[in-house]
Amino acid sequence: MSTGRGIPEEVIEAVLRQHDIVDTVSKHVHLTKQGKYMKGLCPFHSEKTPSFTVTPERQIFHCYGCGKGGNAIKFRMEIEGLTFPEAVRIMAEEAHIPYEDKGRGYGDSPRNQELEQLLQAHEWSSKLYHYLLKNTEYGKPAMEYLKSRGFTDKAIDTFQIGYAPARWDTLVQFLDKRSFELEAMEKGGLLSSRQDGSGFVDRFRDRVIFPLHNRSGKVIAFAGRVLGDGQPKYLNSPESKLFTKSRVLYNLHQAKNEIRKTGQVVLFEGYGDVISAWEAGVHNGVATMGTALTESHAAILRGMAEEVLVCYDGDSAGQAAALKSIPILEGAGFHQVKIALLSEGLDPDEFIQKYGAERFCHQVLDGAVSSVKFRLIYLRKNHILLEEDGKVAYIKEAMPIIAALTSPSEREIYLKELSADLQVSFESLKQECNELRTAMQKKADAGDNKPERWNNGRHKKGQASMPTLLPAFHAAERRLLSFMLQDEEVSRYVGERLGTNFNIEDHVAIAAYLYAYYAQGKNPDASHFISSLHDERLEQTVISIAMMDTPGEWTTQELDDCIREIQKVPLLEQIKRKKEEMVSAERAGDYMRAAQIASEIIALERQ
Ligand code: UTP
Ligand code: MN
Repeated sequence: MSTGRGIPEEVIEAVLRQHDIVDTVSKHVHLTKQGKYMKGLCPFHSEKTPSFTVTPERQIFHCYGCGKGGNAIKFRMEIEGLTFPEAVRIMAEEAHIPYEDKGRGYGDSPRNQELEQLLQAHEWSSKLYHYLLKNTEYGKPAMEYLKSRGFTDKAIDTFQIGYAPARWDTLVQFLDKRSFELEAMEKGGLLSSRQDGSGFVDRFRDRVIFPLHNRSGKVIAFAGRVLGDGQPKYLNSPESKLFTKSRVLYNLHQAKNEIRKTGQVVLFEGYGDVISAWEAGVHNGVATMGTALTESHAAILRGMAEEVLVCYDGDSAGQAAALKSIPILEGAGFHQVKIALLSEGLDPDEFIQKYGAERFCHQVLDGAVSSVKFRLIYLRKNHILLEEDGKVAYIKEAMPIIAALTSPSEREIYLKELSADLQVSFESLKQECNELRTAMQKKADAGDNKPERWNNGRHKKGQASMPTLLPAFHAAERRLLSFMLQDEEVSRYVGERLGTNFNIEDHVAIAAYLYAYYAQGKNPDASHFISSLHDERLEQTVISIAMMDTPGEWTTQELDDCIREIQKVPLLEQIKRKKEEMVSAERAGDYMRAAQIASEIIALERQ
């Protein structure tokens, strides 16, 4: 049985069975037990009082604040920024569920064969480059260069580093012999077209090759570094069907376990930094690839860790990039963003080569500062503090950063530091800070879009939090569906009496899907049922219904009451229409017709 998304139903079922919702969510949210529920702070919007709920019994989560909800797969999609197939594949891998990756799991369309070919070509090429570096005369100069930079044999193997010889057709010949379509290989970034269009040449020549992997460890692109000086220093594969710079992180496939385990990720700027740090024992390090950090990068990492340590180069470009990364990382919801400070303008790789692993770990990583502290340090550099003007200007720029902190004790710490640093009284700094906070508060209230407004859990979109305000028939429909989700017998009972004659369109669809679901011999399982819907809005409606506090037991009396309430609606509407008809008949002076309609109304009302 297939789900229409190309993933076998059994795989989805197994994934949901193996990934308990509480375990899945607990990796990101601190949950506390409250009766049948677990509660915590929603990871998808900022809030101070928990409105994020997990129901172990039904294997689903739901936030009353922002309306997000779903099963374990949905949670991973949201928190790690994955598509449905990506999430299923990763979760299947984690649980060692055998999942034949035919055409990458999307069926055997030509597009997928093309991707498959390209992946294979990258895999082969990576092996070839690695072999050439380690075992041939061609590779000697590259090997010497790497050794002179301190790369060990072990690192060369772990990171599958290779060498592309200084020839035009090493890879062209190699791929051609293995019947890869060269045009597709050009599009995929492995080859370049000759200028006169007469064929193809190798894209990477006389460069040390760093393979870039996707999260599951497949080679999807390369970065080639010149030996020694030369421009460009690094030549990267172009964006392709396999490779999107804004979403790929170097070494994530090897670091992901350690990142999850420690809850922390270390973010570097360069390949060399990741590799040296790995050798120094830092196994949770990744890097962006010649691009600034993007929101996608941040979201992917936030899905795996709560804390991020930015360890960029110590030069001014690196420090500026670190400053820019702060709002992106904080925006992604990291609980803690720390910045490492590197002396002498060194990059992490150079620091490790010069001072060793020990000092790198204890001085640089352990000594990393909070994002606020980093911003203050950064600002401070721009001012000459020996002069009064410089001090005043620095305080003016530093104060908004401190005043924006919500924790009073944190504000106090930074104000005290500032006071000691500048020889300005703590009292006056504190007063200035408070004045600024009052002004900021006013502005925010006028702006009317403070995130805090989400926090009381009462104003909200979606229907989940206001079932009491619904018309009686609407509530009855939800109640009935809630029983039906929990019990196949109810579904059968309702199916015979009401069928799909619900009044709300989404409820009609949900009932129809539910009848089909049970007809396939499946057991009540809200989490699994959601996976069969393929419709975001229906999913959310089912979630909000499944979160209702209906008791497990039901009586036919209760079901009948609900059914009657639901069936009443079309009748009431009919009566309303008849009454309007009657009025217009009276107005037109057609009293015979009016009397006839009146008796029809009485008959309807009896029903
Ligand atoms: P750096 O210039 O700091 O390089 O650029 P690096 O990592 O220290 O390189 P080594 O140690 O001299 O070999 C940082 C990162 O920016 C990207 C690469 O990802 C590099 O690792 N970059 C840099 C490019 O993509 N192209 C370039 O020409 C230079
Ligand atoms: Mn560098």
